[in-house]
Amino acid sequence: MELHFNEIRVGEVVRYDYRTADIFRSFNIEYCCAGSKLLGKVCEEYGIDPDDLRIELNAILELQGEGISDEMDFVNWDHNRLLNQIETVHHVYAHGAIPVIRAQLTKLVQIYGDQFPQLSEIEKDFIKASGSFKWHMRKEELVFFPLLRRWFDSPLKSGEEISMYTPILEIIKEHETEVNLFKGIRNLCESVMETSGEYVMLKDCMQNLIDFFQDMELHLHLENNILFPKVIQMERGLVESGRN
Ligand SMILES: [Fe+2]
Ligand SMILES: [Fe+2]
Repeated sequence: MELHFNEIRVGEVVRYDYRTADIFRSFNIEYCCAGSKLLGKVCEEYGIDPDDLRIELNAILELQGEGISDEMDFVNWDHNRLLNQIETVHHVYAHGAIPVIRAQLTKLVQIYGDQFPQLSEIEKDFIKASGSFKWHMRKEELVFFPLLRRWFDSPLKSGEEISMYTPILEIIKEHETEVNLFKGIRNLCESVMETSGEYVMLKDCMQNLIDFFQDMELHLHLENNILFPKVIQMERGLVESGRN
């Protein structure tokens, strides 16, 4: 993959090789919802020297010759495998992790709230953000994914022509809201991590939060950058073939 910074978008690079996600993360570049931004544009926005980013990305992309494991080759997964992975791995994980993290935060506020005033803010914001994320996942499980599965079974069949374009835009919008809600918590969490010293319970909870954010990144990447472009591309092809 040639990295033309004014032509290639962040999401395309991560879609091409998921191992590059670590590089974007290390530069604090958000790739799951801001994947449509050009590489050149994000460098400008984040004040990054494009050569620095290019060197790091190329080091990963050069490994392509050795191949990517099937577990990370998401772009070649079919829609059933993607939907199953999203629901049975990422949704299940998030539904399980949210109450555990909430309980840990409540306890930590009681014990260390005076010492770490950020904790009560993290707790308040996490309750809000995780509540809306749970609602978002339920909507996908009960409404959006069944609709998508039906669409894949009979895309744009005459008599029941459903376009997935608008529902997908709605879901992408919700992802952006979620990422913004969690962004502030992530920053607060990092500031607690820096000074948490030997407080085992505190470190454990902050690590759970970081794991949660990392899983959410992959989860949203699979939806925004892999699954949805697949649907849009397929829908476009079907519409065009119907016109001819
Ligand atoms: Fe999801
Ligand atoms: Fe989602």
